Amino acid sequence: MGRLRVGVVGVGHLGKEHARILSGLPEVELVGVADVNAAQARSVAGRCNTRPFSDYRPLIGGIDAAIIAVPTAYHHAVAGEFLRAGVHLLVEKPLAVNLKQAQELVDLACRHGVLLQVGHIERFNPAFEELQRRSLQPRLIHCQRLSSFTGRSTDIGAVLDLMIHDLDLVQTLLSAATVDVQASGLTLLGGHEDVAHAHIVFADGCVADLTASRVNPTPFRRMQVWGPEGHACLDLAKRQVTLAQPAQAPAEDSPIQVLELDRNQGDQLTRELQDFVHCVQTGARPRVRGEEGRDAIALADRILACIAAQSAAEYIRKPLFTPLPGNLAA
Ligand SMILES: NC(=O)c1ccc[n+]([C@@H]2O[C@H](COP(=O)([O-])OP(=O)(O)OC[C@H]3O[C@@H](n4cnc5c(N)ncnc54)[C@H](O)[C@@H]3O)[C@@H](O)[C@H]2O)c1
Repeated sequence: MGRLRVGVVGVGHLGKEHARILSGLPEVELVGVADVNAAQARSVAGRCNTRPFSDYRPLIGGIDAAIIAVPTAYHHAVAGEFLRAGVHLLVEKPLAVNLKQAQELVDLACRHGVLLQVGHIERFNPAFEELQRRSLQPRLIHCQRLSSFTGRSTDIGAVLDLMIHDLDLVQTLLSAATVDVQASGLTLLGGHEDVAHAHIVFADGCVADLTASRVNPTPFRRMQVWGPEGHACLDLAKRQVTLAQPAQAPAEDSPIQVLELDRNQGDQLTRELQDFVHCVQTGARPRVRGEEGRDAIALADRILACIAAQSAAEYIRKPLFTPLPGNLAA
């Protein structure tokens, strides 16, 4: 089998890492990198020993597969062009800005018979993989994803930027449908929500509580799962898992056994890219299909609708003019 001809579109913060890793994979020929910022395209191409493009269109005819890592607002337009040309895609998360656009990309991939994978990289987190190997039936899930402000991804809010990771993980763990969603959010810096909280009830009775913030002083990523078999606490940043379960033997010192696992091995982005290349070359099913990226957005859309309704209600309650403090009003 010949080397897979791949291009990377958008080589900013994350796309440059995709390009770096792909340039070192023996089964890949990195044909070029494209970025509207021509200087950035040249700089990344120089480091990866490939060709720079300031317009991605000339790349389309010369590649089998591409990574789309442009800002989310452009995913639909850019990915659509590649899919119509029969190019297999790994589109960074979130797949698109709303369900309608995500569904259109899934439909395009299906119509043109190409693979559409989504960059939900936490699926490759060894801590989450360890959780999946354990027989824990989730009844209560608690996710916190707190990031400091980076100035990136301001085209979307905290739900599509951060919480989308946990929505995908929760939906991976549960097969039940969503029966109720409540959410609230807060915009601090303008444009979109910077902090969000969601409470989701599933048809099997499981409840998930998720918090996301992109204005936290310190970054923090944790997922906790409780079930009849015990409790799992995942530190997704450190890739550590703490499992607590009722002791098997009555003679144990404590009624709860605690198992600390350090799964800090392997690079998630490399494994995600290897999965993509393998699936394009063999026709195997990728770990994160376009349909799953779309399902995460379907849930995110419901959360965003709750937040929009809450903001509208607050706007109606607000007085037209903020009263001046007493000493200035006279
Ligand atoms: N999987 C993850 O954990 C993860 C982490 C970070 C970002 N992301 C996602 O990756 C995407 C990019 O995020 P980022 O932080 O790298 O953003 P970024 O702003 O650092 O990079 C985006 C790059 O795309 C370029 N660009 C814009 N429009 C273009 C176009 N039409 N054609 C070619 N290039 C274009 C920009 O010049 C920029 O260099 C976003 O969708 C984001 O949500 C995912």
